[in-house]
Amino acid sequence: MMFYKENDIVIGKVTGIQNYGAFVMFDNGQTGLIHISEISSKFVKNIEDYVKIGEKVRVKVLGIEEKNNYLKLSLKALNDRERQKIKNPLIFNKPKRIKISNSEDDFKKLRSHLDKWITKSLEEQNMIKVDLTNIISDINFESYSEKVKTINNMINNKSGAGSDFLGWTTWPKDYDKEEFERMIKCAEYVRNNFEVLVVCGIGGSYLGARAAIDALRGLYSDDKLEIIYLGQTFSPLYVAQVMSYLKNKKFAINVISKSGTTTETSIAFRLVKELLEKKVGKDEARKCIFATTDKARGALKELCNTEGYETFVLPDDIGGRYSVFTAVGLFPIACAGLDIKEMIQGAYDSMVKYDNDDLINNDCYKYAITRDYLYRHNKAVELFVTYEPSLSQIGEWLKQLFGESEGKEGKGLFPGSVTFSTDLHSLGQFIQEGSHIMFETIIKVDNPTLDIEIPHDDDDLDGLNYLEGKTLSFVNEKAMQGTLKAHVEVGKVPNIVISVEKMDSYHLGGLLYFFMRACAMSAYLLEINPFNQPGVEVYKKNMFHLLGKKGY
Ligand code: PA5
Repeated sequence: MMFYKENDIVIGKVTGIQNYGAFVMFDNGQTGLIHISEISSKFVKNIEDYVKIGEKVRVKVLGIEEKNNYLKLSLKALNDRERQKIKNPLIFNKPKRIKISNSEDDFKKLRSHLDKWITKSLEEQNMIKVDLTNIISDINFESYSEKVKTINNMINNKSGAGSDFLGWTTWPKDYDKEEFERMIKCAEYVRNNFEVLVVCGIGGSYLGARAAIDALRGLYSDDKLEIIYLGQTFSPLYVAQVMSYLKNKKFAINVISKSGTTTETSIAFRLVKELLEKKVGKDEARKCIFATTDKARGALKELCNTEGYETFVLPDDIGGRYSVFTAVGLFPIACAGLDIKEMIQGAYDSMVKYDNDDLINNDCYKYAITRDYLYRHNKAVELFVTYEPSLSQIGEWLKQLFGESEGKEGKGLFPGSVTFSTDLHSLGQFIQEGSHIMFETIIKVDNPTLDIEIPHDDDDLDGLNYLEGKTLSFVNEKAMQGTLKAHVEVGKVPNIVISVEKMDSYHLGGLLYFFMRACAMSAYLLEINPFNQPGVEVYKKNMFHLLGKKGY
């Protein structure tokens, strides 16, 4: 029996239609779903306008949903002529007879998957919720439709300013599958053989991994592998303390640098490599070093070739701050014991959901438009807000993503980040009553990974028995609701709320892709190239001159 695989173009029969997609069955017994977003590139109000139960359809296989083993299908991925082939016997290779029997067994088989599909599909549809009811503005989204359409085409066709760096847009589908499996194997090796992984990188070569690992493991994880970050600072105190800590640890290194010449990373790697070689010897050290860099160029690549380190690639067409789904992010994330398959699945579902110009359903672009509108209406700062300290590194990742992508040519929102309620006791005053320069974007997780109940106290001297039996998540939620109301209604600070049901690899993957896509749209709305960062070179030149580097 031949099973269909990714990119096959196949014919099946529509066996069911739900408001989120159409189920298809094939003559080899495989089943699949055409998600509503894969029906047509136009806005689909009613799926039955496109396919009917019992009808044969020609579809493209986008991939296999591994958990439930159903095919993810697309109708829109085929052009009109290809779709018509089923109806035109002259150009269509006659299909084998489709064996859809009415037997109870076949139905049971389909039925057994149905609940899972529905749950999964609903999860995909509701992965990220964007609430724009507190933006204190009446935005005419429709007025952006032409611009959004043009930009979306530019992103999808990989044209427009900086288009050489649009590889990330389709990476959740195009990623190197062989490398992905190798990463999982190497991560297992690291987890089983070391106490600490030193992730050595800076900027886009470190922030995504750190954001994901903190968000998914929390800040006091008891996982067997500790992750330490190096190469993101010149601080002698920080670096010396890390080196001293590592002396008595069994550690591996993942050095990450696209250019291979970033000074912070190169200095730190030289130091930590020397420490490792002294501890275990040069030969053994080679087996403890994993490098992520350009596939052919740069000083680090040359070192990898000479030393024979296990090497992963940051593709040419993906820049640092858009690289979290490449080995740059995924290898350390996998080493941290996290599910990178689910993560890239989340990114994939986000890609499928947001790669269109349908302004009724595309919340990612609505968010980008809202940012643009507020910027053009005198807001200078977007403050990313979380209520979880473990998400504060997502704030750092967002600051780099939006700051480096948009802050050019005298334009762009300044991205800041805060963690509430902690920062309500410091910056809260300014946000509530200070100058009206900002809006807030709250990143909310509906259900915390862990929760804790407030106990009873017989004396109640702290007066907290009114909260007895309540959870901290309940209190945190009320703090959020109270703050939102205070900032919006009294402070007149517009608020956007972006929420996920829970913080797991799948939702995080979806969320990070959502922000990258929104960022590209936002920058193009400002007529800025989102993928370069000419401004960061200025300080480097001065620093190199002062350090006496040749040629500066
Ligand atoms: O987004 C970017 O391009 C930067 O933040 C880089 O990722 C950062 O400077 C590190 O560069 P490299 O990977 O070349 O060491």
